[in-house]
Amino acid sequence: MPTLRPYRSTDWDDFIALEVETCMAALPDAPATVRDEFCARWPKFVKSRYAWADAGPTTDASSLLVCEGEAGEYAGHLWLTEQTDFFTAEPVLHITTIAVASSQRQRGIGKMLMEAAVADAKRRGISHVTLGVDASNAAAISLYAGVGFKTKRLAMSLRV
Ligand SMILES: CC(C)(COP(=O)(O)OP(=O)(O)OC[C@H]1O[C@@H](n2cnc3c(N)ncnc32)[C@H](O)[C@@H]1OP(=O)(O)O)[C@@H](O)C(=O)NCCC(=O)NCCS
Repeated sequence: MPTLRPYRSTDWDDFIALEVETCMAALPDAPATVRDEFCARWPKFVKSRYAWADAGPTTDASSLLVCEGEAGEYAGHLWLTEQTDFFTAEPVLHITTIAVASSQRQRGIGKMLMEAAVADAKRRGISHVTLGVDASNAAAISLYAGVGFKTKRLAMSLRV
């Protein structure tokens, strides 16, 4: 049975490798130079933007949980941050990152992490959980819809 625990400093390599892999999946058509530059820049950005410490991110009332598989292997993570709704100014719990290691997918871990996010929101007294997802990420969209998430806004872009 996979279990959840707080992030530890020794998780960094697994954490950032899964983060970069997740981001790369959202850039399937990007040229190699863009992908390489992103991979070089992203770990440094994460450490500085979120004031990374041994116990993980220290900004935005973050919570970073790691999922361990039965043999203690790194199976995924869930990173939550507190944000403020632009329109209502109410606090929201934002799913900054959710990811499951590729060898562990489609075994219910993603759903377990989403349920942990909802439980954390309730513990914090926050009644609204938000996230953003790439329109091409069918697995994630299906996961979110399956636990009740609805599309509220769309991000649009035009390359000129
Ligand atoms: C999205 C992700 C977290 C799902 O994790 P998972 O552990 O495989 O998900 P679960 O096994 O709990 O599946 C829960 C639901 O997700 C959906 N799902 C999971 N994998 C899917 C796939 N390959 N295709 C379609 N739907 C899928 C299904 O609705 C599934 O429900 P079901 O089993 O009743 O069909 C995982 O694929 C992942 O880590 N992807 C890379 C990182 C990423 O894209 N993160 C989201 C960024 S916004």
